[in-house]
Amino acid sequence: MAKKELLYEGKAKSVYGTDNPDELIAVFRDDITAFNGEKKDQFSGKGVYNATVSAFFFSMLEEKGIKTHFIGMIDERTMLVSKLKMIPLEVIGRNRAAGSLVKKFPFENGQVLNPPLVVTDYKNDERGDPPICDDIIYALGLLTPEELKEVREMALKINKILFEFFDKLGLVFVDFKIEFGRLGDEIVLGDEISMDSMRLWDKETGESFDKDVYRFGKGDVMSAYGRVVEKIEEWKRQNI
Ligand code: ADP
Ligand code: CDP
Repeated sequence: MAKKELLYEGKAKSVYGTDNPDELIAVFRDDITAFNGEKKDQFSGKGVYNATVSAFFFSMLEEKGIKTHFIGMIDERTMLVSKLKMIPLEVIGRNRAAGSLVKKFPFENGQVLNPPLVVTDYKNDERGDPPICDDIIYALGLLTPEELKEVREMALKINKILFEFFDKLGLVFVDFKIEFGRLGDEIVLGDEISMDSMRLWDKETGESFDKDVYRFGKGDVMSAYGRVVEKIEEWKRQNI
């Protein structure tokens, strides 16, 4: 499948049209950003890590009955996906308190959240991705109450699958952000599932293996991401 016109250049991916009006090509670039684009860098190979991990999780979720936009890999950083009408919500799942939750509310960093939380931010860089409540979601016509319930249920199911998987790798799946879109009259998982959009902590030491390494200058982000990829590869060797 050949890349056609560039449709959108985001902070970390470029999205192209294809010969098929129902399919898009997403190229995972080496750019990394934090704090709504205030901090920016490029690390050679970072896009490949995120594309590889995203493809692995999309396949795993499909096998477990979650519909996703994933069609296949064209090369190691290039994914063929179904074109979705994206819903401008960042659906955030949390198993432990961290990040903005601890900043805004009196939770201890790392506090276990059981049952896990699913919250939503309005995806809009200019407005700083503000938290959005259910009534505003309905008033903006983003989702109906039934659809929001479905999205929340999908997010919880995805959370359970990923939490149990990372637990086997010795990692705590702290929190994550996912995005959904419409494909005909269905709502399906889009975008990516990678170290850019989740927090992962070593179960024993609490060490971060995610974008916090970059956000807070905690070390070498490429070796942290690379370690997650290695752990997944090790798991595959033992389980496939
Ligand atoms: P951002 O827009 O946050 O800077 P990216 O650099 O990851 O993010 O850009 C990818 C863009 O493509 C995002 O806006 C995302 O919502 C959108 N997107 C992801 N998957 C699909 C899809 N299947 N169809 C259409 N748009 C998609
Ligand atoms: O990351 P930050 O502290 O700003 O926000 P958060 O609300 O604590 O983020 C929760 C989770 O969603 C983290 O894993 C973030 O990496 C992820 N996230 C994201 O991928 N993209 C965003 N725009 C916001 C959060």
